[in-house]
Amino acid sequence: MPPTPDAPYQQARLDWDEQGQPLSSQFADVYFSNENALAETRYVFLANNQLPERFAALTADQQLVIGETGFGTGLNFLCAWQLFEQHAVAGARLHFVSVEKYPLNKADLQRALALWPELAPYAEQLLAQYVALHPGFQRLIFADGRIVLTLLIGDALQLFGQLDAKVDAWFLDGFAPAKNPDMWTPELFAELARLSHASTTLGTFTSTGYVRRRLNDAGFKMKRVPGLGKKWEVLKGGFIGTAETTEKPWFARPAQPAGPRTAIVIGAGLAGCATAASLAQRGWQVTLLERHHAIAQEASGNPQGVLYLKLSAHHTTLSRLIVSGYGHSRRLLEQLQKGQDWDNCGVLQLAFDTKEAQRQAQLAAAFPADLLTNLDRNAAEAQAGIPLHAGGLFYPEAGWVHPPALCALLGQHPNIRLQLHQEALELRRDGKRWQAWNGEQLLASASVVVLASAAEIKSFSQSSGLPLKRIRGQISRLPATEASRALSTVVCAEGYVAPARLDEHTLGASFDFNSDDLTLNSADHASNLQLLEEISPELCGALNTAALDPEYLEGRAAFRCTSPDYLPIVGPLADAAAFAEAYAVLSKDARQVPETPCPWLDGLYINSGHGSRGLITAPLSGELIAAWLDNEPLPVPADVAQACHPNRFALRALIRNKP
Ligand SMILES: Cc1cc2nc3c(=O)[nH]c(=O)nc-3n(C[C@H](O)[C@H](O)[C@H](O)COP(=O)(O)OP(=O)(O)OC[C@H]3O[C@@H](n4cnc5c(N)ncnc54)[C@H](O)[C@@H]3O)c2cc1C
Ligand SMILES: C[S@@+](CC[C@H](N)C(=O)[O-])C[C@H]1O[C@@H](n2cnc3c(N)ncnc32)[C@H](O)[C@@H]1O
Repeated sequence: MPPTPDAPYQQARLDWDEQGQPLSSQFADVYFSNENALAETRYVFLANNQLPERFAALTADQQLVIGETGFGTGLNFLCAWQLFEQHAVAGARLHFVSVEKYPLNKADLQRALALWPELAPYAEQLLAQYVALHPGFQRLIFADGRIVLTLLIGDALQLFGQLDAKVDAWFLDGFAPAKNPDMWTPELFAELARLSHASTTLGTFTSTGYVRRRLNDAGFKMKRVPGLGKKWEVLKGGFIGTAETTEKPWFARPAQPAGPRTAIVIGAGLAGCATAASLAQRGWQVTLLERHHAIAQEASGNPQGVLYLKLSAHHTTLSRLIVSGYGHSRRLLEQLQKGQDWDNCGVLQLAFDTKEAQRQAQLAAAFPADLLTNLDRNAAEAQAGIPLHAGGLFYPEAGWVHPPALCALLGQHPNIRLQLHQEALELRRDGKRWQAWNGEQLLASASVVVLASAAEIKSFSQSSGLPLKRIRGQISRLPATEASRALSTVVCAEGYVAPARLDEHTLGASFDFNSDDLTLNSADHASNLQLLEEISPELCGALNTAALDPEYLEGRAAFRCTSPDYLPIVGPLADAAAFAEAYAVLSKDARQVPETPCPWLDGLYINSGHGSRGLITAPLSGELIAAWLDNEPLPVPADVAQACHPNRFALRALIRNKP
């Protein structure tokens, strides 16, 4: 079982030597050579992995994946990025996966990277994205997707064990083996071997005999080569073993779609815009079909949504998805206009009863304080700027978002052609292409189609079996008053209220599992006001009472779209009948793993079921779809990707013997 961090999270503790170079006080070792760090990185990791030649050989739609043990100051990453810019053609991409158990704080990172003025253009971009890097998988995107960094925050053995990727070149850089044996174990090398292929290479600064022997045992062929400066020898080599795959066919990666890199994405809410953005950044030509006159007209159209993290102290798959998705969304938001499109004013979840207070105490013990922290009532009031009756859990980097602005940001790439007033009613297969039809009108055709039309996905015959449900929700809009403008953070209990955007607060939200009617109703406004009363009667009183009459309140209603396990549905789709037939044996014996390949509907993908937290899960899900399609490292742990996989329902049905 992957998740639970076995040791409390710690940031790096640094000392600085007289030349201003960082030293780890945890490991009593240097981050890089204090004589010729740039030359050593370029020799040991870049040249010994033949990266100049390999970068130059990439074609415009190819990528190279580097894996690293020990991100540290990011020096190796930045040097690889710089080299990539010097050698790779436009369109080629670099994917860098690195692991870090003790991340540097931003001030230390800035100080360390200031040592390398020639890397400043890259270092600045890394520093700009160095936010919300919490434990688990964290994705950072640079240079419009040309450079992708998947940072695994936590222990190398644990997190590489959760990675689904194929790595082309390894950098082993985990402090000296004598000082940090954990980064040089046979178990970790076995994971690196699992993630390698026949052309994978490896470079490391150490020449220690047992490292060489253990790497050889794991399937690498390592040799000593001369080192630089004081270092006599270093190791370089390649993978000659066979990487074992233990994948179950229903979660295996489908073959990459044949034909040109063209995609239709149906639905221009958060899920559709995010999918289109992730594909467009990878050079796909995307047609984004939306039935309305503009993007973000349904669930993604509220004036304010909250970056609300409902976490579990047990680090469940959902909880880990949320921490990764939150980090990714939070970094994207840096590109939007603060105050109008989003605000990182923080989110306070009130400890409104004893059970909630207990849950919050467990969460505070399970997560780092820069993600969430317990506030007593006084501190909570000071943070929120209004009277409160309880303390709570505070998420300092969270806040509210204007979801249409995020959709617009994601949907604006030159490789995306947005087609409005286009309702796709039927999908047909024409040879190797998918076609989207409305009656007799062909709307678009492409090699790939991604369904991001929330619960409307069920109207297509290919995906009609997916268990998606609509839940009506209504928000209320409250004009700000002199007194309510004091609200300085989002406050949540059963409902939420946000600081004013354009002088209006959003108050949410109702849940109705049975209604199909999107007409605003006063009963839901009344229930939203009740939720506000529970958050703060004083804030309720501070808002103009005339404006609070449910009969006259303004608001907005839309449908959330949820799955039975509350995880989104993201990934490739199989043919339901053929799936049931291929794996029928599972209904007799759930432990069987037949060799029959999964009967994929080639090139058909789903991104839906984002429930009440699309702001957090939908953008990262766009990255997940793109990773499936381009055979890239997945942006989430393998078990999280499987927990979101469309095939999970068909599989469960078979295992419960209910085809
Ligand atoms: C009241 C309410 C409050 C919420 N509050 C929050 C919050 O605070 N924080 C948070 O993270 N999340 C919140 N959510 C949830 C969040 O809004 C959703 O998870 C997210 O918007 C889902 O995005 P989506 O793209 O999957 O769906 P949608 O935004 O519904 O987009 C689906 C799109 O597909 C289009 N479409 C459908 N069928 C077709 C077709 N056949 N052809 C072409 N186009 C089609 C639709 O027109 C629509 O534009 C809230 C939701 C509601 C309803
Ligand atoms: C030599 S430094 C890496 C230098 C880095 N590559 C650079 O470019 O700055 C080694 C890094 O490994 C990290 N580390 C040590 N043990 C680890 C473990 N078990 N899992 C993950 N990271 C670890 C350290 O915190 C440190 O940042």
